[in-house]
Order: sequence, then structure tokens, then C-alpha cells
Amino acid sequence: MLIDNHGREINYMRLAVTDRCNLRCFYCMPEEGISYVPKAALLSFEEILQVTEAFAKEGISKIRITGGEPFLRKDMMLLLAKMSQVEGIKEIHITTNGTLLEGKVGQLKELGIKSVNLSLDSLDPERFKQITRRDDLPKVMACMQDLTAHDIEVKINMVVMKGKNEQDILPMLELAKDQPVAVRFIEEMPFNGTEGQGNQGFWSHADILAAIQEKYALTRKLKDAAGSTSMNYSIDGFAGSFGIIAAYSRTFCGTCNRIRLTPQGLIKTCLYDNGIFNVRDMLRAGASQEAIVQALKAALNHRFKDGHAAEAHRKSQFPIFESMATIGG
Ligand code: GTP
Ligand code: 5AD
Ligand code: SF4
Repeated sequence: MLIDNHGREINYMRLAVTDRCNLRCFYCMPEEGISYVPKAALLSFEEILQVTEAFAKEGISKIRITGGEPFLRKDMMLLLAKMSQVEGIKEIHITTNGTLLEGKVGQLKELGIKSVNLSLDSLDPERFKQITRRDDLPKVMACMQDLTAHDIEVKINMVVMKGKNEQDILPMLELAKDQPVAVRFIEEMPFNGTEGQGNQGFWSHADILAAIQEKYALTRKLKDAAGSTSMNYSIDGFAGSFGIIAAYSRTFCGTCNRIRLTPQGLIKTCLYDNGIFNVRDMLRAGASQEAIVQALKAALNHRFKDGHAAEAHRKSQFPIFESMATIGG
């Protein structure tokens, strides 16, 4: 078991397999994109699997594949197939923008992928285009249908942005009326790859809940799974549910069960830290699995209590402006 210095059990690793993306979501990266990590600096699949094997032996049992857009990585299905064979890995989840999954969903089902979280910030084609700077709403909607038809659990991630998509909160919520999906509203964080453009006047989790309860007064709090980022609710008569993720307020740090591996091999013990050590450099210098595990245990012995403490200790200047795609959402 991996336990940190605050008594939290760590069993979840978020694996960002690439920092590249085919969309340009306003809250994640600028229109011109970000300066991508050179291909040779990315972890190879072999390296990713070596790290996963080493950590799975110590108690990591849940993997989330994320990015950037994970399906831009060549042979992604092969990585998923190999990952599903790693001893100790009980659940594989994916976070994706849903634009590149056509023809792949059946295979995801066969591989036993537990759930897919789809980033979707508006159901209005114009606003979708403004936010993502691409015209791909039909592809994302088709992907959602395909996933539910294959009985794969779906969560929809909507980042709520002041002045951009507040009017989409209720239509997005109502996706869960007839479909068995969980719609999750996320506080915007300043990880947008753009210096000087933060998340000023952001919508807090309380603002989001109040907006929903103006129309649906009878929301019912559900019991949240251990380590859940979202506070989850049901509404009578809805096939699905909804959740709110206080990603910027960081209300869930007390039960945080996760570490992150970035595309360039950094292990982060908090979304808000600078990265604690680099497994790519260790592996390429010939380090053993035991050495990597020791480095992880040392990092977990000095883990920040919460995202506010991690932010306060960052080496870089405030405000934060890396892209979520670089650090692995
Ligand atoms: P589940 O495993 O389904 O609970 O999903 P998840 O919330 O762990 O993952 P997902 O990739 O869907 O992330 C949803 C939102 O939560 C994104 O905006 C993430 O950046 C944010 N998030 C995930 N983990 C953390 C975290 O450790 N800290 C903070 N502050 N935000 C997080
Ligand atoms: N603030 C909050 N969430 C973000 N995501 C990307 N950038 C941000 C941000 N600045 C979300 C994406 C995706 C998840 C991994 O992170 O919408 O669903
Ligand atoms: Fe791509 Fe996801 Fe970033 Fe949007 S949020 S640009 S889909 S990595």
C-alpha cells in the first residue's frame, strides 16, 4: 500500500500520454497551441508500462489515461491492451475530447475500459466552436451515443467559464434527463497556457449549484465514491446524475488518492506542484523498478497537505499559466 505523510492511501495514477491536442479549448491552450514536448522527450509506451508495473505492485490499481488528447498518440489501442494486462491494474479509465474515437468504442468495451470522461463545454454549435476553436461538436455527440450504446460508463466534463458558457449549464445538465450519463461542472483553473489570462471572476462550485437549484430545487446529494473529485447529486426522474468539481477551490484534497505522470515523465503528487521527480530520466539512466518505487515513496513522505500548499511552494512565478495539456489534466 502507498500511504502519504497525511495518511492518505494512493491507488490512482493519472497518465498523460501526450501533450498534443487537435482542439484548442480556450481554457487549456492558446489558439496557436503550446510548444509541444519533442517526441524523443515523451515517455515511450515501454517506459509507461515499466512505471505502471512498478507502481501497481505497490498498490496503484486505477489508471486514468489522459493528455492532451490521448487518441492522438499512435497505437493508443495497443497501449490500452498492454495496460489492461498489467497485474494489479483493476480499472482503466480515459479522459478524452471524444473527437477521434469513431470505430474504436467496440474495442474499448472488449478491453474492459471502465469509463470514459468526455470534455464537452456546450451543446450549442457556435459556442462549442468558440470555446474549442474547432467545429467538432457532431463527432463528440456521436462518440457519447456510441459509448452509452456499448454500455460504457460516461461522464461529461464541462468547464464553467464566466462570460463564455454560463447559459449552457442547464442544457448540459438536461443531457442526464434521458441518458445514463453523469454531467460534471468544473470550476475553471488558470492552467490555460497563456500568461496574464487567468480565471478571474470564476464560477465557484457554490455558484454552479445555486444556478442549478434555481430550476431544480429538489436535487439530492449522492454518496460520493472514495477519493471522488466531484460532489454528486441526483434529480428525480433523471436517468443520469450530475456532479460539481471544485477544482480551483480544492475542497477534495483531504481524500486525494492520486498521483500524476506527465507526458515528459514527471511524477506530480499534486496538480498544483512543479513535479517532484522524473522517471524518464531515471529509466534512461538505467534505474531499476525498485529505485523508482523508492523515489515515489520518498515523494509521498513529503507530500503537500493540499493544492493550496502545493501552489504556495511552486518555483515558478505567479500566476500559474502552464497548459493543462502539459501537466496532464
Ligand atoms: P473520476 O476518476 O471519474 O472521478 O474522474 P476525475 O475527476 O479524477 O478525472 P477527469 O480527468 O475527468 O477530471 C475532471 C476535472 O477534475 C478536470 O478539470 C481535472 O483537472 C480535475 N481534477 C482531477 N484531479 C484533480 C486534482 O487532483 N486536483 C484538482 N484541483 N483538480 C483535479
Ligand atoms: N480548468 C479546469 N478544467 C480544465 N480542463 C482543462 N483545462 C482546464 C482548466 N483550465 C479539463 C478538461 C478535461 C479535464 C482533463 O481537464 O476539460 O475534461
Ligand atoms: Fe485538448 Fe483537452 Fe486541452 Fe481541450 S482541454 S485543448 S480537448 S487537451
